Amino acid sequence: MYQFETKCIQSGYTPKNGEPRTLPIYQSTTYQYDDAAALGKLFDLEESGHMYTRISNPTLEAVETKLADLEGGVGAMLTSSGQAANFLAVFNICAAGQNFIAMDNIYGGSINLFSVTMARMGIEVRYANDRMSDAEFEALFDENTRLVFGETITNPALTVFDIRRFAALAHKHGVPLIVDNTFATPYLFRPLAYGADIVTHSTSKYMDGHANVLGGCIVDGGSFDWAASGKYPELTEADESYHGVVYTKQFGPAAYITKARVQLLRDFGCTPMPMGAYLLNLGLESMALRVQRHSENALAVARFLKTQEKVLWVNYPLLEGNAYYELAKAYLPLGASGVVSFGVKGGRDAAMKLMNSLKLAKIVVHVADARTSVLHPASTTHRQLTDQQLEAAGVGPEFVRFSVGIENVDDIIADLQQALDQI
Ligand SMILES: Cc1ncc(COP(=O)(O)O)c(C=O)c1O
Repeated sequence: MYQFETKCIQSGYTPKNGEPRTLPIYQSTTYQYDDAAALGKLFDLEESGHMYTRISNPTLEAVETKLADLEGGVGAMLTSSGQAANFLAVFNICAAGQNFIAMDNIYGGSINLFSVTMARMGIEVRYANDRMSDAEFEALFDENTRLVFGETITNPALTVFDIRRFAALAHKHGVPLIVDNTFATPYLFRPLAYGADIVTHSTSKYMDGHANVLGGCIVDGGSFDWAASGKYPELTEADESYHGVVYTKQFGPAAYITKARVQLLRDFGCTPMPMGAYLLNLGLESMALRVQRHSENALAVARFLKTQEKVLWVNYPLLEGNAYYELAKAYLPLGASGVVSFGVKGGRDAAMKLMNSLKLAKIVVHVADARTSVLHPASTTHRQLTDQQLEAAGVGPEFVRFSVGIENVDDIIADLQQALDQI
């Protein structure tokens, strides 16, 4: 009912008469009950309520409600990092002996998680790309394929995921599409409205927005019909760890996110602190304004870099002439986030010289917060990737990832100008 910007501020926490106006931090691991039997009902999932903060907490719940509202889902679950969110999102419906399809230019940390760590759990990832024909993509599916995974705007390749196309292909094979929407944020794009079924985030990026608190979340769109698909007994048949609860029967459209919480968060324990959720909520309150400014500044920076003779190429989805320009116009009319990448003439040495000469923009591993920052992915975040994986991620030695902050854009451009002059 409210517009997006209003939800960023108001959603999730509505105080009653005389209660604190802003979201309280419930710094408690546990909850008291007058009646032992009532607590037993919580353990059997017969009634809802908080029992232990590893599984749920009122501060976290308020932020989860806001995130579900912002993405347009039926429920959300916070995790202690984006890595934990992506792991749990996949592991919730994919087990040993099964496989899933992921786009090959997603975040390097997700590639490591999927290719190395999850492989050790007996889960196979099959990589795809958007240059494949439908037939080539569909040839990756077999009867053990459980989901398709992609990123709205990839980190750091900055390609735009054609969600309508890949959602339709996933659904044709009876599996859901999971989209990591970290770079776009729901302000710029809401994947669930375009056919995605589950959305994940590293909330450590624009959502927190201040590089203060690590976190992640999973949002369930509630639209995927697990029972009709027939491929997910873990959701449609009895869970012995809860006395035979059948998630689709007991929780309807919220089956997936309920299982993720009561089974996986319970067992893995990657739950954020209430204080972390509180800080995330502060970030969410100003997210719409910040992401709007990040996107405006980034487009101005990309246009500036394009005019520079020492710059080999500039990549920003909404920059005229970009390979993903048409897709970005269609999916991201409000902006394409604050991340711009570019290559400098002179390869690795020139890239290093430029980075060392920047004054306002600091060299940090992080991306997507209020402060302008810069990174050389090939020697840092993407160091563990093979040459083939680096090529798929579009990360060459001259590649500089520039995370445009919300400072005055004239200062950011002046900083780039003086650094380019040093090369
Ligand atoms: C797109 C994307 N997904 C997931 C992650 C992992 O998130 P975190 O660092 O919060 O674990 C990142 C981190 O950079 C990311 O950029």
